[in-house]
Amino acid sequence: MSEILCVEEVSKHFDTGAGRLEVLNDLSFSVDRGETVAIVGESGSGKSTLLSLLAGLDAPSRGTVRVAGCELETMGESELAAFRARELGIVFQQFHLMAGLSALENIALPLELQNASDALERARGALEQVGLADRANHLPSRLSGGECQRVAIARAMVVEPALLLADEPSGSIDVRTGRTVMNLLFDLVQRVEMTLVLVTHSQELAAACDRRLELVSGRLA
Ligand SMILES: Nc1ncnc2c1ncn2[C@@H]1O[C@H](COP(=O)(O)OP(=O)(O)O)[C@@H](O)[C@H]1O
Ligand SMILES: [Mg+2]
Repeated sequence: MSEILCVEEVSKHFDTGAGRLEVLNDLSFSVDRGETVAIVGESGSGKSTLLSLLAGLDAPSRGTVRVAGCELETMGESELAAFRARELGIVFQQFHLMAGLSALENIALPLELQNASDALERARGALEQVGLADRANHLPSRLSGGECQRVAIARAMVVEPALLLADEPSGSIDVRTGRTVMNLLFDLVQRVEMTLVLVTHSQELAAACDRRLELVSGRLA
């Protein structure tokens, strides 16, 4: 199997008013194409920070992150954006849907950024896959938390990314709804043989993954 993700000796700190906060400490691991990996750990252990480094949304303080053989840190801003749009799907903890766009338009957006001529048609298919065909024209403000999460999943998957990164939702939706939707994500990933790196609190979801990485105070346990 070929490697899709390679993390080498990665550390991350934040300089805050109260001094330096060491969040991730010397992490090394790799993920093969088609693998599903759960990242688990207590709140504040650095899971979301790690995911943002894997997505190239933030840079490590030390070490390297390579996705599909490309070192993220050496890329310029526009190259990185194009790379991300092509190779990565990201489901954020807070979804980050565009408030002024309908569910369908939100899902079509990454395809339109790639100038896909069949963007709306494919977006409609993705909306159907997450069971929201009848909500196509709703704005995010008219959707429940669980529905917003499903739209976020459809948007991440519609480009069929090589690597899907997902952070389990916090706050706005209840645990049961969140779990149901994450199971849906899991089914979709199995069906298209995508690589999934999933931050989760659910033992059940973690157990369904091929592998589990546990973060304890910013280190791999
Ligand atoms: N931009 C930032 N500036 C300062 N501290 C941060 C920043 N982002 C995250 N942190 C801190 O890093 C630690 C890990 O955060 P996070 O990765 O969100 O943890 P988790 O997702 O595991 O709950 C927390 O103590 C958090 O307050
Ligand atoms: Mg988090």
